[in-house]
Amino acid sequence: MDKRGVTFLEWDPKYSVHVAEIDRQHKAWFALINGIHAAMLNGSSKAIMRTALAETTQYAFSHFAHEEKLMDEIDYPEREGHVLEHRDLARRAREFADRFEEGKSATMLEYLVFMSEWVKNHTTTTDRKLGDYLAGSPSTHP
Ligand SMILES: [Fe+2]
Ligand SMILES: [Fe+2]
Repeated sequence: MDKRGVTFLEWDPKYSVHVAEIDRQHKAWFALINGIHAAMLNGSSKAIMRTALAETTQYAFSHFAHEEKLMDEIDYPEREGHVLEHRDLARRAREFADRFEEGKSATMLEYLVFMSEWVKNHTTTTDRKLGDYLAGSPSTHP
């Protein structure tokens, strides 16, 4: 089988939070994670892997900033718990980056599995709640 045709993390409507901009950002994040997977399959150099890792982590952080700004604006009641989940992912991503620099060979595969599971779980629970709140909140439709 040609593994280059396999998408590691496939978008599915079940991941939608019914907020167009958030869905767009989640899809872009999925694509970056798939880019790391493709780079691994291609046996890319450490420099390329480092860049892919940094870009994906950076994208996650800017996506979190977008959601957190949105939660501030609407005074979202479950903001605190949601932000804690973001912080936890940020801490884990930094740990992976450190281990990658230390040359731990299993790090990238672990990163892919951890990151994809986290994104799927957070998107369908915590982000989905935010999406539902936004859909039902009159203050978001001025
Ligand atoms: Fe989130
Ligand atoms: Fe999100």
